[in-house]
Amino acid sequence: MKNISIIPQPVKIELTGGEFLFTPETSIVAAGDAAGVAAYLAEVLQPALGHKSVISPAAAKPDQPVIHLSIDSELSRLGKEGYLLSINPQQVDIKAPAPAGLFYGVQTLRQLLPPEIFADKPAETITWSVPCLEIEDYPRFGWRGAMLDVCRHFMPLEFIYKFIDLLALHKMNSFHWHLTEDQGWRIEIKKYPKLTEVGAWRRETMVGRLEWGQTEFKFDGIPHGGFYSQDQIRQVVDYAKSRFINVLPEIEMPGHSQAAIASYPELGNTGKQIEVSCGWGIHEDVFNVEESTILFLQDVLTEVMELFPSTFIHVGGDECPKTHWKNSPAAQKRMKDLGLKDEDELQSYFIRRMDTFLTAHGRRLVGWDEILEGGLAPGATVMSWRGEEGGITAANADHDVVMAPTQYTYLDYYQSQDTDKEPLAIGGFLPLERVYQYDPVPQGIQPDKVKHVLGTQAQLWTEYMPNPAHVEYMAFPRLSALSEVAWTPLDRKDYSQFIQRLRAHLSRLDALKVNYRKLD
Ligand code: ACM
Repeated sequence: MKNISIIPQPVKIELTGGEFLFTPETSIVAAGDAAGVAAYLAEVLQPALGHKSVISPAAAKPDQPVIHLSIDSELSRLGKEGYLLSINPQQVDIKAPAPAGLFYGVQTLRQLLPPEIFADKPAETITWSVPCLEIEDYPRFGWRGAMLDVCRHFMPLEFIYKFIDLLALHKMNSFHWHLTEDQGWRIEIKKYPKLTEVGAWRRETMVGRLEWGQTEFKFDGIPHGGFYSQDQIRQVVDYAKSRFINVLPEIEMPGHSQAAIASYPELGNTGKQIEVSCGWGIHEDVFNVEESTILFLQDVLTEVMELFPSTFIHVGGDECPKTHWKNSPAAQKRMKDLGLKDEDELQSYFIRRMDTFLTAHGRRLVGWDEILEGGLAPGATVMSWRGEEGGITAANADHDVVMAPTQYTYLDYYQSQDTDKEPLAIGGFLPLERVYQYDPVPQGIQPDKVKHVLGTQAQLWTEYMPNPAHVEYMAFPRLSALSEVAWTPLDRKDYSQFIQRLRAHLSRLDALKVNYRKLD
């Protein structure tokens, strides 16, 4: 289909012939619950248009060319994120049963307009042709996301906003914000100021890659850090909400917690003052399992819940070495007192306490698939990263799952086997085509449990992504491919056709100044 290159590919497109011309006079008609999305459309068109489009509740004249946005409750069969887009020479008409669907209709419209609409300066001439057509569209999955690690390398706020906008362009609806780690604690917690006074800063950063068996590391001698204030976080959450994106916060426990222990040594198992980690890998300093530590983390989660309306709260749970618990008389006594048979059960106890706490506050716990070890907490949702096995086990046991397996969704892996020509990465190999071919519903889930697969998301761990430009290089265009995995029905997916559409899509990313990796 000439000139039509929408990513992710819609469910149904029918070209009807002719064109609608968008001119500087084109106005937006919207009323009631459609008004917010209309304001968004005017806002995103403004830089290229050079002025803000007029929004009015009704067309001034019957034959005036307009973009008409309306909520139509009769369309509930499309689900709350579905929409109909109908374009004829007189008008662009987007209808949806709910504002989220209208928003996605607007994303499709943006991709039907020429790429210069994505630029940050006024276009030379504004007579933008849009093909006449009928589109019916809705997503395959309700969870379409990306995780960004801002701990290994702190990412400036402007980039967080840009990243959210890029997710929105791809009809993704979940921004998983990985906020705490061994190498940095990045969220202000009022009750425990040292988490950011101490925990947000490290002395220096490891240089080069962690090679198998390597014991000596080089460091750069440059202090690194940063954190987001609660006010900044509230603004990000509001901004994401206006783009129909849920912000899922992740507070890591009981592992990946060295920055917190450096801030408050009583949270660890040795009582020793340690420093915020300067190197990558799995760290042995993990939270102890004392009641005081559980209460500390519940206090943290209380502030997190005040900032993030997200139903889901992520508590990490991955890669927690048990050495310190094995060596700690206090942890061993705790295990015995609780009648637990091993350290896996102790971790499971710890996560259950968080599950009970979050559930009592009307929220739902999410954790990486290690939370299956030692028994899954009753309300837990599992994010399956070590392959698909954790997701299969959890779904078959009637738990919701989000599929995030390394072999399809880890965008920190190399994009080419010719690694000498690529910037240093953590390892692995995940080409664009493999991401595209992913099906988040694995073999092995019983047919009646498939409903537990909420969706999928990309992972951007930033050990080897020191700045936003580098994150963009690793994210795109693979995230464009993943958006289609998450949105488009299986029978509408076609890699060679995707690549053709992607070529046009990349000119949009050019206009948006995204530092994507060029196609081979
Ligand atoms: C992970 O990659 N440790 C979830």
